[in-house]
Amino acid sequence: MFSRLVLLCFILGASVSWSVQAEEGEPRDAAQIVGEVCVGCHGVDGNAMVMGAPKLGGQKADYLAKSLMDYKTGIRNNAVMSAFSSALSEKEMDALGKYFESQDSTLSVPR
Ligand code: HEC
Repeated sequence: MFSRLVLLCFILGASVSWSVQAEEGEPRDAAQIVGEVCVGCHGVDGNAMVMGAPKLGGQKADYLAKSLMDYKTGIRNNAVMSAFSSALSEKEMDALGKYFESQDSTLSVPR
């Protein structure tokens, strides 16, 4: 009986700390965001799968983060990316920039 109570307390405690961690404003993991949102157009490694979607793999992190902020604030105007960037925080943009910078670029001139 006592051990069940201890277990219950542990589970309740864990779920409380989980919900605190998942609170709004807490940056999400870049790989998770890419896998859930960006992958359909940019590919998991930032090498575009869709015509018209630019390649992001190997691009500079600062440039990518700035682009996302520019879509969000309206400095860059694109209906698709304005919509997707509006849900991102600045920290998430920085993390996404670093994520794509660390991927290989397939931009090259075939010889
Ligand atoms: C429905 C397709 C689609 C999805 C999903 C999408 N994008 Fe895009 N993305 C585009 C298109 C199209 C452009 C080019 C827009 C333009 O002309 O400015 C673009 C442009 C960008 C750019 C600017 C690249 C450059 O070279 O200037 C970044 C950075 C970017 N996307 C990141 C993301 C991230 C991060 C996500 C996920 C949160 C995402 N995109 C989701 C289609 C998409």
